[in-house]
Amino acid sequence: MRKSLLAVLLLSVSLLFASGSVEIFSWWTGGGEEEGLAAIYEVFKAKYPDVEIINATVAGGAGTNAKAVLKTRMLGGNPPDSFQVHGGMELIDTYVITGMMEPLTDILESWGILDKFPKDIMTICSYDGEVYSIPVNVHRGNVVFINNEILEKVGIDEVPSDVPGFLEVCEKIKEAGFIPLSLGDKDKWEAGHLFETVLLSALGPDKYNGLWDGKTSFEDPGIERAIVIFEELIKYVNEDHAALTWQDATRMVFDGKAAFNVMGDWAEGYLKTLGWTPGVEFSWMAVPGTEGSFMVVTDTFGLPKGAPNRENALKWLEIVASVEGQDAFNPIKGSIPARLDADKSLYDPYLTWSMEDFSTNALCPSIAHGSAAPEGFITELNDAVNIFITTKDRAAFLSAIKSAAEDYIY
Ligand code: GAL
Repeated sequence: MRKSLLAVLLLSVSLLFASGSVEIFSWWTGGGEEEGLAAIYEVFKAKYPDVEIINATVAGGAGTNAKAVLKTRMLGGNPPDSFQVHGGMELIDTYVITGMMEPLTDILESWGILDKFPKDIMTICSYDGEVYSIPVNVHRGNVVFINNEILEKVGIDEVPSDVPGFLEVCEKIKEAGFIPLSLGDKDKWEAGHLFETVLLSALGPDKYNGLWDGKTSFEDPGIERAIVIFEELIKYVNEDHAALTWQDATRMVFDGKAAFNVMGDWAEGYLKTLGWTPGVEFSWMAVPGTEGSFMVVTDTFGLPKGAPNRENALKWLEIVASVEGQDAFNPIKGSIPARLDADKSLYDPYLTWSMEDFSTNALCPSIAHGSAAPEGFITELNDAVNIFITTKDRAAFLSAIKSAAEDYIY
């Protein structure tokens, strides 16, 4: 009794004297992303009005530019108080094994929420029995976003969930004068993102997951099959793809120029900020051939060693980990909450679909978004995918994938 009284007293004192600042580093500057971040900041500000948030953002989808800036800061002993990092290799390989992060297991335990997150997500946020970052969400990578009006105009009632059927529909859309599939691969990762969904489609979830634990060889014929499908698919993309970002490509669906866009569901957040309602102007489906699989992208926040405002960083992490913080952030961001006890009624029909699939599908870590493979592999793969789009040289693409695997996976 006296102990809990003391805890309440200490908490009130710490709330009373919370001041100073907290620097939070991310790449959330785009439509949907920025608004989601602002919403979770509001939750923080309401609780800690005297702590100033320094919103350190570096623009560029998937952290194209932010990750390099962050690495320089971390290596230079100048960490932010907390930063966005994907669960999996991006966190573990880059920052945990190198000894730059504080473990968070005891902290989560002291908040009584260590068991409130999905096991699979916590596994990729952990190393050697310790949790090193807190997941704020789960995004789905293998989604096709669909312009309903174009389908109606072309006379397509249902989009087939298999690859050959999907390609046929793409042909019909092309004949009707629309772009079947929008792509914006200005930052390279976007083409890598499309390719990994095709890889999942060609290999299936077990073999795809096996690539990362040695159970599937990079000699598997499924990889060659993926290259063939990818080549077919990119026949249907817009010519100016190399000049566009992911937002530009998603916007082509919004603008009525393209029927489909394959993107992670931050595109759903973006379409909503543009004014669309899920299920009304747009619909969605798993990338053909990947039904039953959920490509996992998880944004997490951790505590770097030497964080200049450690106490305030912990306050931020508590908001990140909270149901309140997650329920403010995710419905806007286009992601599902990592907290298992979040308020499901706050999520729209798209996110409800995603939540259901997340709990029943095979979970597969994304390459492009840092979970499956180390950074060096991602760079080599993205380069190879982008070169292939220009050269269409299948053999060179396959051998580039194998050599990236030799360099970083085996
Ligand atoms: C992903 C990230 C998402 C979203 C996207 C586009 O890597 O996990 O939250 O921001 O990039 O920038």
